[in-house]
Amino acid sequence: MLFPDYRPRRLRQNPAFRRMIRETRLSVDDFILPLFAAHGKGVKEPISSMPGQYHLSCDNLVKVAKEALDIGIPAILLFGIPQKKDALGTEAYSKDGIVQKAVQAVKDKVSGIAVITDVCLCQYTDHGHCGILNGKTVDNDASLELLAKVALSHAKAGSDMVAPSDMMDGRVAEIRNTLDEDGFEHIPIMSYAAKYCSAYYGPFRQAAGSAPKFGDRQTYQMDPANALEAIREVTMDIEEGADIIMVKPALAYLDIICRVREEIDLPVAAYNVSGEYAMIKAADKLGVLDGKKVMMETLTAIKRAGADMILTYFAMEAAKVLQE
Ligand code: PBG
Ligand code: ZN
Repeated sequence: MLFPDYRPRRLRQNPAFRRMIRETRLSVDDFILPLFAAHGKGVKEPISSMPGQYHLSCDNLVKVAKEALDIGIPAILLFGIPQKKDALGTEAYSKDGIVQKAVQAVKDKVSGIAVITDVCLCQYTDHGHCGILNGKTVDNDASLELLAKVALSHAKAGSDMVAPSDMMDGRVAEIRNTLDEDGFEHIPIMSYAAKYCSAYYGPFRQAAGSAPKFGDRQTYQMDPANALEAIREVTMDIEEGADIIMVKPALAYLDIICRVREEIDLPVAAYNVSGEYAMIKAADKLGVLDGKKVMMETLTAIKRAGADMILTYFAMEAAKVLQE
């Protein structure tokens, strides 16, 4: 493969050749759209840290879910903005909690789109941690039962898939057992398996009011410096019963997506998080780059790295570009 015998430019000279040798193709099938469910009626409150994203009351959430379905997006991921917070995050597993109501509304009114629910406590606890506290530390084992209760309440409300994002050790097994005992053995678990302790979550925490009130998440989320540990985390979650494993964030962790893809034969999801979204939106607004092009390039890169599906706030926008 030496010049002048090999000339890579030969196959780049026209759009037809470029299409023929393209290795990665984005499809609307790849996307999962995260949405924020809020109490009330007629609510469509813009999220200032994430331009183009909203807090939606159930009526409006149903509309967006319909639009997503119409454009071909296979699934949404629901987060809840609760009315009240307390030490045990009780709204997270209440029958009338915001996510439970939102799931019911979407399942009632929209058929054909999968509803995945994020399972965690941080939006619902008054301290903002993903588990419950024992003094100032997050108590792993005491949190497991509550997380399983959250997952079960989502399943009972009609959730098609649960996605634990807390990073407590052993929560996938606990959730699997609890679901199975209650007749929900058919509900898959998408586990946030390699979830890093990342500053890229900033805009989401503003949007969800879920920033920890003291300390940080370093005792449960992964150190960004570690890659081998991601394999251990992922392997562990698979042994505990995960059906889909996730790497999060995506863009600064393409190497992790790639390694996980090579070592694991389960579907791999990547979460293109709030900070990745906000950076592109901000740079586009400043006129320093073309947001639409960077969006498509970024999503293509995440897929090229090995993701089978991408959770992204760009889902609608990118689906429209693909439709053109
Ligand atoms: C909470 C949770 C977070 C995200 C999803 N679930 C943030 C965190 O760990 O604080 C991040 C999503 C995003 O940044 O887009 N368990
Ligand atoms: Zn959390």
